Amino acid sequence: MHSSAAAESAAMDIDLSRIVPEHVRADENLFNLAACASFIESGSDLYTQNLVAYFEGDEEVEGWLRNQWEQEELNHGKTLRAYVRHVWPEFDWDTAFGTFLEEYAGYCKVELLGPTRALELAARCVVETGTATYYRALSRSASEPVFRELTRRIADQEVSHYKHFYRFFRRYREQERVGRLRVLDILVRRTLELKSEDADCAIRHVIATRHPDRAADAEHIRAASAQMSRTVRTHLSAGTTLKMLMRPLELPARVQAWIQVPVTQFMQHVFLR
Ligand SMILES: [Fe+2]
Ligand SMILES: [Fe+2]
Repeated sequence: MHSSAAAESAAMDIDLSRIVPEHVRADENLFNLAACASFIESGSDLYTQNLVAYFEGDEEVEGWLRNQWEQEELNHGKTLRAYVRHVWPEFDWDTAFGTFLEEYAGYCKVELLGPTRALELAARCVVETGTATYYRALSRSASEPVFRELTRRIADQEVSHYKHFYRFFRRYREQERVGRLRVLDILVRRTLELKSEDADCAIRHVIATRHPDRAADAEHIRAASAQMSRTVRTHLSAGTTLKMLMRPLELPARVQAWIQVPVTQFMQHVFLR
């Protein structure tokens, strides 16, 4: 079990043998966070394909998506899965992921892309801001050093994804001459969509496999979700998140300063739900 876990995590070069399982095994919230993240990342290929297809013909973007982005997202899933399996070997990851995927594939994000490439790229900036924020918060919250490092490294890659999408966005914005209001509209809509659906689906399947007797216990599931949100919320850096979200608007510094307060309130509303 342990040797296969070590091999699996080689993608991110994380040495799982440094974990002292007895120190973390009892942390059910950490288990939930790690397991849910491993499910969502491992389900990435359901929608990465769509995006790659959407940029067909643009060699730079298509090549980067296929050769780097997609691989890295799947590696995040593998690394998190290796962590879960190493610390909680009794959890039947494959079965739980199987039932999760069945439901997830039904409604997952085969969302309409676009409406234009520039706007889709702005939306991708929002998604990567969301994941970067999430893993940064997890890293800050963790006391177990391996999980801390693993989530920090995933967060760094999410930020790098953001930077690529942002660069591509600027190229297309120029070409398409998309106005700020349309960019703002997409940023707001995608920020509102960031939350919950995926995480709600993941936690239900995690709990159903881990504690079958609680599979239908809505109150227990709600409490587990609330605890996960609290962990993220108390460790996120609102300032950094905000800067990343607003950047595609390319606002003059003065305007940026004006809208800082309402936008912060909006962000808090989204992340505090
Ligand atoms: Fe990821
Ligand atoms: Fe990413």
